Amino acid sequence: MSLPIAVLISGTGSNLKAILQAIEAGRCDARVAAVLSDRSKAKGLELARERRIPTEVVRLKAYEDRGAWDAALAERVASFDPGLVVLAGFMKIVGPAMIAAFPSRIVNVHPALLPSFPGTDGPGDAVAAGVRVSGCTVHVVDAGVDTGPILAQAAVPVLPGDDRDALHARIQRLEHRLLPGVVHAVASGALELSDPPRWRDAPGADAELLYPAPQ
Ligand code: GAR
Repeated sequence: MSLPIAVLISGTGSNLKAILQAIEAGRCDARVAAVLSDRSKAKGLELARERRIPTEVVRLKAYEDRGAWDAALAERVASFDPGLVVLAGFMKIVGPAMIAAFPSRIVNVHPALLPSFPGTDGPGDAVAAGVRVSGCTVHVVDAGVDTGPILAQAAVPVLPGDDRDALHARIQRLEHRLLPGVVHAVASGALELSDPPRWRDAPGADAELLYPAPQ
């Protein structure tokens, strides 16, 4: 049976779209059970609505404090009973209630080669630092900011003249392959989200793209 996933977004949802397309093409054995956002205007919500996938908006401002928001988010996500929670451009830090509700079951895609350049502007920080290589990382979410165990990474060059947007666009093309690949790896059992995570079946054909963290 396909792995039910909840996808959390804040914006455009191009990574959500990549997951949906991979599922539709038979490349990702998952089912998007729900799409949740912290922003009612997140463009990506439309992608879900078009496909009649349930959507929910859980806005931080609707709650007394971050703790109450985090607890409400955990409760709403859990109501869809996902086997995996995917942060796909979700620009809020999830708190202890989410992590307790889904231990080692939340993954995040980040537009930099972690542990370098965590935070909200990975591509901009990479350009500012003058690095010649950047990329994207999919990692397990823990209590820190972009600090959880790394599952997979893919690299792109930083070209002379790149600004943050040019670099981000190049990185996103790889995110759109890496993230559905990791979701499929979890769904198929090739990647076990134990603590620590374990690749049972290291990537073969996609080896240039999917770098499993050393065991
Ligand atoms: C993605 O590039 C993702 O890596 C980044 O936001 C973008 C969302 O794009 N996430 C972060 O920076 C998290 N720190 P999308 O809405 O088109 O998928």
